[in-house]
Amino acid sequence: MAIAIYPGSFDPITYGHIDIARRARKLFSKLVIAVVANPHKNPLFTLEERVLLTQEALRESGLNGIEVTSYDGLLVECARAHGAGAIVRGLRANSDFEYEFQMALANRDLAPEFESVFFMTAGNYSFLASSMVKEVASYGGNVSNFVPSSVEKALRSKLGPK
Ligand code: PNS
Repeated sequence: MAIAIYPGSFDPITYGHIDIARRARKLFSKLVIAVVANPHKNPLFTLEERVLLTQEALRESGLNGIEVTSYDGLLVECARAHGAGAIVRGLRANSDFEYEFQMALANRDLAPEFESVFFMTAGNYSFLASSMVKEVASYGGNVSNFVPSSVEKALRSKLGPK
């Protein structure tokens, strides 16, 4: 199981995601971050912006050798297209569990060949969520502890000064 796919909305990518990617990268010979189009979630950033910001954030964090792609449809189809054997997700608090459990079982039902693998969040990022970062940024708060500076800049230009 050499290739893993790490899917998500990444709206935008945070230090929490980057920490998971860094650790997953050590276990798998190849890691593909897959940004979902997800029209239901009404993202702040367009799909193209999220892909670019993810690439930029990885570069800024010195993480090389991680491919960034996007998909519109079922995750398992994207995983198949990339020859992945594992689906990587991060787990923060208990509250993540129900959703992740449901998603892992749905994915297993759709495609039993993929194994879902969960990484416990780093303690200092356990509260971190893209939605929280957007809220803080929307009120002009400092998000430099939460996201790389390229993402911080993009948030500022998207949400404007308050
Ligand atoms: O960062 P998110 O929004 O929690 O990520 C959720 C994501 C994108 C991994 C999940 O919603 C997804 O894979 N959606 C694509 C459609 C799909 O495959 N659904 C079946 C599994 S629930």
